[in-house]
This record gives sequence, C-alpha cells and structure tokens, in this order.
Amino acid sequence: MRCTPTFVTLIAVLSFSFVSIATNQPSPNVIRVPLERKPFFTHPAPSYISRDRATRANTAARYVNKDFLRTHMASVAAKYHNTLAAYESNTGSPHPLAQAISAVSGVGTTLPSGRVEKRRRKTDVAFDPPSLALGNPTSPNHARGRHTKRDDIPLSEVNSNKWMGTISVGTPPQKFTVDFDTGSADLVLPAQACDGSCDGHTRYDPTASSTSVDFGKAFKLAYRDGSEVNGTQYADSVYMGGYEAANQTLGAATTYSTGFKSPNFLPDGLLGMGFPLISVLKASPVFQTMVSNGVATQGVFGFALSSESGKSELTIGGTNTIMYHESTTEYLNVSLPAYWQIPLAGLRRPGLNNTPDVVVVNKTSYAQAIVDTGTTLIITSDSIAEAYYANVTGAKPCAEIGGGVWCAPCDIAGSLAPTLTFGLRSFTVSPSTFNLGPVSEGSADCIVGLAGGGSAWWIIGDVFLQNVYTIFDISNTRVGFADLA
Ligand SMILES: *[C@@H]1O[C@H](CO)[C@@H](O)[C@H](O)[C@H]1NC(C)=O
Ligand SMILES: *[C@@H]1O[C@H](CO)[C@@H](O)[C@H](O)[C@H]1NC(C)=O
Ligand SMILES: *[C@@H]1O[C@H](CO)[C@@H](O)[C@H](O)[C@H]1NC(C)=O
Ligand SMILES: *[C@@H]1O[C@H](CO)[C@@H](O)[C@H](O)[C@H]1NC(C)=O
Ligand SMILES: *[C@@H]1O[C@H](CO)[C@@H](O)[C@H](O)[C@H]1NC(C)=O
Repeated sequence: MRCTPTFVTLIAVLSFSFVSIATNQPSPNVIRVPLERKPFFTHPAPSYISRDRATRANTAARYVNKDFLRTHMASVAAKYHNTLAAYESNTGSPHPLAQAISAVSGVGTTLPSGRVEKRRRKTDVAFDPPSLALGNPTSPNHARGRHTKRDDIPLSEVNSNKWMGTISVGTPPQKFTVDFDTGSADLVLPAQACDGSCDGHTRYDPTASSTSVDFGKAFKLAYRDGSEVNGTQYADSVYMGGYEAANQTLGAATTYSTGFKSPNFLPDGLLGMGFPLISVLKASPVFQTMVSNGVATQGVFGFALSSESGKSELTIGGTNTIMYHESTTEYLNVSLPAYWQIPLAGLRRPGLNNTPDVVVVNKTSYAQAIVDTGTTLIITSDSIAEAYYANVTGAKPCAEIGGGVWCAPCDIAGSLAPTLTFGLRSFTVSPSTFNLGPVSEGSADCIVGLAGGGSAWWIIGDVFLQNVYTIFDISNTRVGFADLA
C-alpha cells in the first residue's frame, strides 16, 4: 500500500461522517446550483437546436464543432487515464476497470490500455476537462452564506451538451465558472501566476484571499499531446451555492494544457464530484468537505441537465423534487466508490425496418457503467459500438472526428437512440439528445450519441443524463435515476 496514513484516515473520517449524517437528517438544507450549457456547435452560435428531421431545414447552417468534439474525446481519455492512475496510487492496486481496458485507435489519444503506468506521480491531477468554446456564461445568481435554506446556483445553458456553473473561492470571494464533473475528484483553477496558457480565464489570486493557505506543494498532470497542467496546491474557502467548503484543497495551475485553454475550454476550471479514491491531489473533494464539515446536512446531490433554457441545475445537500417524479426513482448501489460506477443491466437500440432490437448488453452479460456528467457521449469499446450500429445503412465511424465517434445519416440518427436498463427500470434516450447534429455544414451525416474508443465498460455521459434526473448519494453510495417532471 502506497497510500499515506493521512489519506486512509481521511477516507475513514469521511465514511464515518457519511454514516452519521445519513442517520441524522433534519430539515434538509438544500442548495441549487444553476448550470449553463456549453456548445459543440459553430456558426451561427445557436440556442438549442432541435435536430429532428422535421426541423433539420432550419438548422442546416448549424453543425458540430469538430475541434471541440475531438478535443473533448481526447480530454475524456486523458481524464480516465489520470483518475485510474490516481486510484492505483491511492490504493496500491489497479482499478478493476483498468484491467479491462483495450487499446484503440483514435485521434492520437485513447483510453489507457492495460494497467496504468506505475511511475505516474502521486501529484498528477485527474483530468483534462471537456473542451468547449462559444457562448458567454451568464453570471448566475449566487448567494452565499452557509445558513441559506434554499438557494439557486444556476447551471447556465450556453448551447449544447456541456454544462457549467459558478463557484466562489477565498475571502473576499473570487468567482469562477467550473465544470461540475462526477468523473473526477479534484478542484483545479487557473492561478494568478499562470502563464499565457490561462489567458481568457479568470485567475485565482491567493494573495488577495485572507483564508488562503499555500501548501508549498506542486501538482502536475501530463497529457498525451505533450502539454501539461501544473501548479501549486492551496487550501481556501470554496463556496458552492450557499455552502462553504472550508479549508478546501485546490490546485492552482500555473500552466494549462491544450484542453483547458480558452476558448476551447469555456469554464475557468473543473470541480470534481467523484470519490476521494480518484483524487490526484489526495484531497477531499469539495462536496465531501461540505458533508464532513456538517454544512451539507445530506450527503446527496442531484443533477438536472436540460436542453431547455434555465432548467439545468445542480442541487447540493439534497435533490430538487420539483424537477423529477420521486416515485419513479430507481437506485443502484455503487459497485466501487471511486467513480460513480454502477451495473448496467441492458442496452439496446430499436431494430430498423422491422428487424429485431439490437441488444449489446443484457442481464447475463451485465456491464459496469460510470455515470459521468463531465462526458458528453455514451462511450464503450469500438467493437461494442460496431455491434450497436450493425446493419444500419450509412452508419460509420466519423473519419472527420476520429476518437471512436460515430456518424449516421441525419434522417435516421435520432431513431438509433438506445434504451438503457438500470436495475428494474429502462430509460430511453430521446432522438433529439442522441442526434448531435450534422458533422459539417449542410452535411447529411449526423453525429450520434454512442461512441466507441473506450473499453468494454461504459461511460454514461450527458447524452443519457439529459433524459433523467440523476441523484448522487454519497451517504448510501448509490445513484438514482428518475423521470424528469
Ligand atoms: C509546467 O509546465 C510547463 C509547460 O509544459 C513546463 O515548462 C514547466 O517546466 C512545468 N513546471 C513544472 C514545475 O513541472
Ligand atoms: C486544512 O487542511 C490541511 C490538510 O488538508 C490540514 O493539514 C490543516 O490542518 C487544515 N487546517 C485547518 C485550519 O483546518
Ligand atoms: C444496496 O446496498 C444496500 C446497503 O448496503 C443493501 O441493503 C441493498 O440490498 C443493496 N441493493 C442491492 C440491489 O444490492
Ligand atoms: C446476452 O449477451 C451475451 C453476451 O453478449 C450473449 O452471449 C447471450 O446470448 C445474451 N443473452 C440473451 C438472452 O440475449
Ligand atoms: C445484420 O444482417 C445480417 C444479414 O441480413 C443478419 O444475419 C444479422 O443478424 C444482422 N445483424 C443484426 C445485429 O441485426
């Protein structure tokens, strides 16, 4: 075991806190963080696009920004590489899913193959967040103060397929937009001292914060394009909605990797909401800090990711029961509390032209799935993706994008949307979330929401999560999916 006693203690303390909190739930102190969508489309910067056949004529001028999607796929691969390495560094054993990973060809970046590199440094950070560009995030109403009963931090919608919201750090508070990412566990922001690679982002200035503590400790994240995120670790007060995470560890970057650069990456930083075992900084993630400090009375947060303006939000310390039908909630125990990893009991697409459904996961084959708000698509291995699109005329890997992304004729793309079974319930992805739009201006080929490029396990991204309300329950280590109201 290479993990430090401190880290083990941290986990133990956190687990204990969750248990005591779970059995002691007074009136919930719930915070809502409004989320903002981020675009994968270019000219003209559209509001939400309906991509069904009937409305395609109106949207012909809109198309997927290939660079964003390509960079995003590379970032997802890098994120899993870094977080799997962090898991091994934190526990001394490779993550079980790391052994199942197969190498694939792509855009120069793939999910890691075999075991993660042992020599990877403990201080490597865990992700390269999704790249995005257009749009100007609006500043959400952002109330502070730990005693706020109910408070909105909107997840603002910029355009399509990625969401972000606002946090504050330090005393007095400095505001940042971040990706709320359930597929990683660290908070990383650009530092005041960052070089030109952070241009276009708001920078964290520790000298302007009376609560800032410099750990005097470096951190570093390497990426396959040769760029890296590196910088210094600090602790400071982090405010998410009305909740404060006091003495929260964060990485202040003095260099940003290609994937973090503006305008390719729209938010300033990334806020990981996975479990401490995938923390590269070996720190308590922000929400866990709030729970162990007792400011969040319930170890639960909920995501609504909507294509409709103003309807996306992150709720902290509980769920927003206005957004979903509580009685429809299906809970799945987390298989291993590192990622939000749960069993996937089925995945099928409708057969076309009266052929039977194509089933790629069933109850006997079962699969593991990671619920990841920081990933856009549903991702699996190349061979499973190929089986999924079998016999669909015109469906093919998108040569223009690479990285395992598939395209299909726009007029049938939506009808290829899958139905996923979790536990006893099945959830069907809507055609409009599954069809991401034309691959280039005026093209009859559209990008579809299920990609290869990964492994025999699944990453369940926003293409699916837009169709449900998702409950992340740390106290009971489970994920809930419910029908949106
Ligand atoms: C941080 O990254 C930059 C650019 O990749 C590099 O020049 C610098 O040496 C790195 N610093 C550390 C401390 O690793
Ligand atoms: C802040 O956290 C660090 C480690 O995460 C710890 O060493 C330090 O004692 C904490 N400070 C306070 C004031 O809680
Ligand atoms: C989920 O975990 C809880 C608590 O450990 C347990 O009581 C329950 O039986 C588990 N459910 C399933 C479906 O395994
Ligand atoms: C379930 O999937 C496995 C593996 O793909 C396959 O061998 C089996 O025939 C499937 N079972 C059913 C009932 O479809
Ligand atoms: C694809 O078509 C072939 C030939 O018609 C058929 O044998 C096969 O079962 C089909 N596969 C799927 C997955 O539908």
